[in-house]
Amino acid sequence: SPKLFIFDLDGVITDTAEFHYLAWKKLAEELGVTFDRQFNEQLKGISRMESLERILALNPALSLTEEDKEQRAHDKNEYYKNLIASIDGEHTLPGIENLLKEIQGSGIKIALGSASKNASMVLEKLGLTNYFNYIVDAAKVSKGKPDPETFTTAADTLGIAYSDCIGVEDAAAGVEAINKAGMFSVGVGSSDHLAAADYIVEDTAKLNFEEIVRQYVSWKG
Ligand code: G6P
Ligand code: MG
Repeated sequence: SPKLFIFDLDGVITDTAEFHYLAWKKLAEELGVTFDRQFNEQLKGISRMESLERILALNPALSLTEEDKEQRAHDKNEYYKNLIASIDGEHTLPGIENLLKEIQGSGIKIALGSASKNASMVLEKLGLTNYFNYIVDAAKVSKGKPDPETFTTAADTLGIAYSDCIGVEDAAAGVEAINKAGMFSVGVGSSDHLAAADYIVEDTAKLNFEEIVRQYVSWKG
């Protein structure tokens, strides 16, 4: 059976993916750029600065100084922090806390693998910090998703072989990172974006511990 579950945060544990989207949309409007949810899919799992670069690239006529970019990224984070200011345990997505309990009860370790600098704060607000044996956030990695470093760092720190790990993600970049790490990937969301996942469920309520383990065991062969 698996020895470690590594969860993405935004869009898997809680619906902060929506708040990132709304904050970027507001920032983009200030820059005179518009984008839709389809484009937003490629921002999921991507660092703050890289996300800004992708938005700026939508309008090649825009040319910002490094200083202005820093300011815009800061502005976006302020919008985001306002949106998450009042979140609490009610914002944990359906089925997630129960799943964390079952994993923990089975003696399997749990890590967080997030690209967000706000990750620890969000986990605290949700009251879920105690389920996690280790937290990998933006401060701990040099190469973000789709590079596997976020996931391999968690496994390395806890001394667990990659093939004994299961990663859970809502972003295409995240699924790619898990696959590159040689771990079993669980995608949460639409197969339009997550077709590369080893196992896909359409939402968190469909994450069933026993079924995930069954799928993992047949993947491992
Ligand atoms: C996660 C989210 C991204 C976000 C990134 C950085 O990966 O999926 O939408 O841009 O974290 O988050 P931060 O809170 O550091 O700006
Ligand atoms: Mg995510």
